Amino acid sequence: MNAAQLTGQGFGKVILLGEHSVVYGRPALAAGLARGCTARAAVAESDSLSVEPWGVTVHAAREESDADRELLRRGFLALCERCRPERPGLAVSANMEIPGGAGLGGSAALSVAVIRAMDDALGTPRSDEDALAASLAWERVFHGNPSGIDSAMALGGGLQLYSRGQTGPSLQPVRASRGLHLVIGNSAEHGSTKAMVASVAWQHAQDSAKAEQIFDAIAALVLDAKSALEAGDHVRLGELMNANQTWLDALRLSTERLDRMCGLAREAGALGAKLTGGGGGGCMIALARDAAATESIVRALSDAGYQAFGVEVRA
Ligand code: PMV
Repeated sequence: MNAAQLTGQGFGKVILLGEHSVVYGRPALAAGLARGCTARAAVAESDSLSVEPWGVTVHAAREESDADRELLRRGFLALCERCRPERPGLAVSANMEIPGGAGLGGSAALSVAVIRAMDDALGTPRSDEDALAASLAWERVFHGNPSGIDSAMALGGGLQLYSRGQTGPSLQPVRASRGLHLVIGNSAEHGSTKAMVASVAWQHAQDSAKAEQIFDAIAALVLDAKSALEAGDHVRLGELMNANQTWLDALRLSTERLDRMCGLAREAGALGAKLTGGGGGGCMIALARDAAATESIVRALSDAGYQAFGVEVRA
C-alpha cells in the first residue's frame, strides 16, 4: 500500500451551549460535524505541512517571520516531536473543509487529521488517548489554555456532554430522542479564540465572584439543555440557547454582526440562536424546527449577505 494514499481525518464541531465556561470546569454540549479536515502524509527528506485551501506550507525546522505561519509551524513541531524519534521526515498535506478562526474547531480538526496521517504513513497506530494528548499539545500553541473540547470532538464527533474534569477530560454521549436541524452562519469576522479566552480570564481576574456566577448560570442551562435534547423538547432547547447567548454577550464575546445574525435567524423562525465557539466573530448557530425552517433561516441570513448553511445532527 502506498503511504501517501492513506488519510487522516479530524471532525469540526459546534458548541450547542457552554463555550468558555467549559474552560473553567463547567460542562458543555457539543455536536460533531461530518466535515472538518483530511490529511495525507508521505515520506520526505524533512517534516513539512501544507494546508489547503490556505495555500500555506511550513517546515518544522524553519522559523517563519509571519506570526500566524510561525504559530502553525510551532503547532506542527509539537506534533513532530511526539512522533517516533527514529523515523524518516514526513510531508503532510492537509485539506480544510471548514473555515479556521470561525468557532468550528478547525484548528483541532487539522491537528487530529495530521496526527492520524503521520501515524498511518509510519504504520504506527496510536490510541485515542494519546492522539488527544498530542492534539492538546498543538492546541496549547494556539490557545494557551484549551479546555480540550475541540480536540475531543475532532477525534470522535457525535453529540456529547464534555467536561474538563479534575482527573482528565470526560465525554458523555447524549441520547437525543430526535435529530437536530441547525443552521451555521459565518459572520466573516475573524474570531481569535486565544484573545477571547484571554479576555474572559481578564474579566475573571477583575471580579472572580461575578464570573463564577455567570459560569454556574451557564452550567445550569447546559444541564437543562441535555434534558431537553433527551426529551426531544426543541422549543425548550432553543430558549436555553437564547439564554446562553445573553450570558455570552454579558461576557463581551458577541459582536454587532453576531447579534444581528441571531436576530435575523429568530425572526425567520429559529427556536434559538447564539454564537458558537470562541466568539468575537466567527460563527453563530440557529436551531430550526425542521428542514423547511432550516431553508427559511439560511435564506434570511444569505439575503442579508452572510454565508450560511444547514446541518443535520443525527440522534
Ligand atoms: O473557537 P473554537 O472553535 O476553538 O472553540 C473554543 C471553545 C472555547 O470554550 C471558547 C475554548 C475552549 O478551549 O474550550
